Amino acid sequence: MYSEKVLDHFKNPRNVGEIEDADGVGTVGNPVCGDMMSIYIKVKDDRIDDVKFKTFGCGAAIATTSMTTELAKGKTLDEAMKITRQDVADELGGLPPVKMHCSNLAADALHEAVKDYRKKKGEA
Ligand code: FES
Repeated sequence: MYSEKVLDHFKNPRNVGEIEDADGVGTVGNPVCGDMMSIYIKVKDDRIDDVKFKTFGCGAAIATTSMTTELAKGKTLDEAMKITRQDVADELGGLPPVKMHCSNLAADALHEAVKDYRKKKGEA
């Protein structure tokens, strides 16, 4: 079953939406189920100043992305790149094994958003 934290983030996801003038955007799809998500970041002084997400996916994907955005906010870009799928799942108090693949998307999308920012800045 789902932990209280997963249910909380599913019912009240944090940082939902889109940043119109985002500095970086990461969009990934889950090959297992076909769900998709995008993470938008605003960067200031090499830190994630703001972050929002849109998830077209299951409840576990929504909860993990919500948690990922919470973990990412205020972090440096290097720190954000080190947030792993496992970190997100652990932070949520675990996910049912059958739903672990759903947690893959969030960390990947965050990393893609950072890469996108760095590419636009000519740093990558
Ligand atoms: Fe697709 Fe969970 S079933 S992300």
